[in-house]
Amino acid sequence: MKKVKVLVVDDEAIVRESLRDWLIDVGYQVFTAETGPKALEIIERERLGIVITDLVMPGMDGIELMKKAKELQTNIEVIIITAYGSIPTAIAAMKEGAYDYIEKPFCPERAELLVKKLAGHQELVEENLSLRKRLEDHYRFENIITKSSRMQRVIELIKVVAKSNATVLVTGESGTGKELVARAIHSQSYRQSKPFVAVSCAALPESLLESALFGHEKGSFTGAYTQKKGKFEFANGGTLFLDEVGEMSANTQVHLLRVLEEKEFSRVGGNEPIKVDVRVVSATNKDLRKAIENGEFREDLYYRLNVVPIELPPLKERKEDIPLLAQYFLNKFALENQKEVSEFSPEATQLLLSYDWPGNVRELENAIERAAILAKDSLITIADLPQENMSLARSTMQGKNLREVEKEHILDVLGETGGNYSEAARLLGITRMTLYKKAREYSSNVKNIDSSD
Ligand SMILES: Nc1ncnc2c1ncn2[C@@H]1O[C@H](COP(=O)(O)OP(=O)(O)OP(=O)(O)O)[C@@H](O)[C@H]1O
Ligand SMILES: [Mg+2]
Repeated sequence: MKKVKVLVVDDEAIVRESLRDWLIDVGYQVFTAETGPKALEIIERERLGIVITDLVMPGMDGIELMKKAKELQTNIEVIIITAYGSIPTAIAAMKEGAYDYIEKPFCPERAELLVKKLAGHQELVEENLSLRKRLEDHYRFENIITKSSRMQRVIELIKVVAKSNATVLVTGESGTGKELVARAIHSQSYRQSKPFVAVSCAALPESLLESALFGHEKGSFTGAYTQKKGKFEFANGGTLFLDEVGEMSANTQVHLLRVLEEKEFSRVGGNEPIKVDVRVVSATNKDLRKAIENGEFREDLYYRLNVVPIELPPLKERKEDIPLLAQYFLNKFALENQKEVSEFSPEATQLLLSYDWPGNVRELENAIERAAILAKDSLITIADLPQENMSLARSTMQGKNLREVEKEHILDVLGETGGNYSEAARLLGITRMTLYKKAREYSSNVKNIDSSD
């Protein structure tokens, strides 16, 4: 393991040296400086992570040194040495960003303990970063994290289709990553430096959606005080993402079809034809085939939008992605919330795997964010996961546990009674016959009941 580097800064030689000797004895690599400027030189040169500094020093004081050090290196941690009885100053220093303080004359064990805590913390941060890096190298394509083979096929399809101008229809349940896929297609295409413009077709009533898509001329309707460009124009050269396309009204469907066929349109209230070069990717969690049967969606538009279909499997059909995504989100939210939480207890992982995730990846992401915030130490436990949603998965899991518990208890009692079935049955409050059956089920070397007691 890498030796942790510590810098001790104090204008008093005796403090500097005694602290240095102690920390070297307990295994750290220690540097010393008698002034703030010298300390900054060492920090810059050695990229060290922990500084213990006196507060009151001639020239640059401890607080100023701390601020400058943190500018040089954001992840540096500072422990302040204060005179005995000056706790308020120490607290003020902590408000400014010091990790903790030691009082002078100090007890070296306290200094050691603080350094040890800090070193552990910094290692964890580094470890999380490198785990994140590993995750990203192996299982990442654009912002899509996955190791499922069905999703690998989706990624292959994205790569191929990105090279063309074909329309793509992304389907999948809510939260499966449809928008992520649309963005990946854009980033992989030659349009990547041009805009990616997203429009939700469900969020706006018909007239507003039309004006949002195609723009409007001044005075074309009440409230249209100025001319306004639409999303098609903004997306020129790039990609237009039509989200929830299944919610589009019949009129807008006609207009959209015309634009896709003729590659030109006019603004609402205008007749000037406007030419655009836009690749359209749309998404829906609706069954559009059914919508066509019900007369809610135009079949001709469906074929126009769906030149290349991409279907995203629900999370419950790619369970191998659950631990991977959970770890990815945990790293992300631990970093964001400055928590040291880094892993899941085996029971928590099992619970994540037994739940069905109707809200798919988005629901998982939210659950892990909450768990990262609630976690009390480095481990996410079952108690940190959402109680309400997961109660069913929890009860099936506990169902298994109950059996385990029963088995252990029965075999224990049998052991305690020396295999006396009548006595064990009495203690357990069940009949001898029931006990015998259960014991047979749980253990292969159950004696014949008649010879037992
Ligand atoms: N494979 C993945 N890797 C990493 N993050 C993912 C993945 N899939 C989804 N996400 C994240 O989950 C959330 C939901 O994804 P997205 O918005 O793409 O889903 P959606 O299918 O468009 O959902 P909705 O139908 O509700 O609009 C986002 O925060 C996204 O970053
Ligand atoms: Mg979406």
